[in-house]
Amino acid sequence: MLSFGGISLRHGLLLAPLAGYTDVAFRAICRLHGAEYQVTEMVSSRALCYHDKKTPRLARVGEEELPCAVQIFGSEPAYMAEAAAMVEKGMAGGAAPSAIDINMGCPVKKIVSAGDGSALLKNPSLAYDIVKAVKGAVSLPVTVKIRVGYTEKEKGKGIPEFAKALEEAGASLITVHGRTREAMYSGQVDLASIAAVKAAVSVPVVGNGDIASAEDALRMLRETGCDGLMIGRGAVGNPFVFEEIAAALEGRDYTPPTVEERLSLALLHLSLLEKEAERALATGESAPPFAAEARKQIAAYTKGMREGAALRAALCRAASLAEMTAIVTRALEK
Ligand SMILES: Cc1cc2nc3c(=O)[nH]c(=O)nc-3n(C[C@H](O)[C@H](O)[C@H](O)COP(=O)(O)O)c2cc1C
Repeated sequence: MLSFGGISLRHGLLLAPLAGYTDVAFRAICRLHGAEYQVTEMVSSRALCYHDKKTPRLARVGEEELPCAVQIFGSEPAYMAEAAAMVEKGMAGGAAPSAIDINMGCPVKKIVSAGDGSALLKNPSLAYDIVKAVKGAVSLPVTVKIRVGYTEKEKGKGIPEFAKALEEAGASLITVHGRTREAMYSGQVDLASIAAVKAAVSVPVVGNGDIASAEDALRMLRETGCDGLMIGRGAVGNPFVFEEIAAALEGRDYTPPTVEERLSLALLHLSLLEKEAERALATGESAPPFAAEARKQIAAYTKGMREGAALRAALCRAASLAEMTAIVTRALEK
């Protein structure tokens, strides 16, 4: 059981924020297959404060998705606090989220050069001030997602102290992606550094990085002592991974999905994207590039299938959700 800020999750299975992937449709699919909690993709605090038209949609959380956090990024405590207070009320006609998550892990150059995301790992006092300001602005739990350091040379160094300071500033939960900013998404996840954070703080710690199976999940739990597991890329095309992990935690057998089950889930995913596109258009929100985002999400379901490559090539050429639906439907009928 993972408990923080009045939220209790039986197995502590969280869907990671993945910009361009973990939209409302994918979050619903993962919930259906055992994700107990999810975090929206990162939302710019500055864009929210400047009332950018495209941004609120990214922070919209449906009532049926709760518990779900909205993740914000930025490095000015005042903007972060103001954005958190806006998000707390519910964005774009959505529900109030369950928590505010702060991004201190994004390694992307544009983000880091603005002092945001993982750049905050180098500035513990500013990171502290941000958490303190956000905590003071909302009544929701505030959580933080970090990495195990900025450079490879300094991996793990000072990170337990950094996490401890975030806890003192008011963080209710800390997620640790076991890579440095320098490593981006390559190389091994450093489980020892996650374990060191776990040993240093008294709030729950969620382990993250390269969990794509029950075996990976059990290893993360065993070697770090973490309280929960956050899964990102391992769920893309395989939202069943949450059920696989839950089965292992309960000592039950797990039967992997058949090709039919995977394609049927791809169709359900497409229908949810279609629904969200209709909602966005009806409310006059700027519609996202649904087809562009859907292509990579739907193609992922075909990984390892006998005719997967041909299916992916066809999906790649599809210009609309309707075309993708027709392609997957034909594959399913075969
Ligand atoms: C395409 C992509 C988008 C991501 N977007 C975010 C984001 O918006 N916020 C965040 O905190 N982390 C983001 N991440 C990092 C993931 O949440 C996660 O920490 C990382 O992928 C490692 O976990 P995994 O191996 O389970 O995917 C992103 C990662 C990828 C690959």
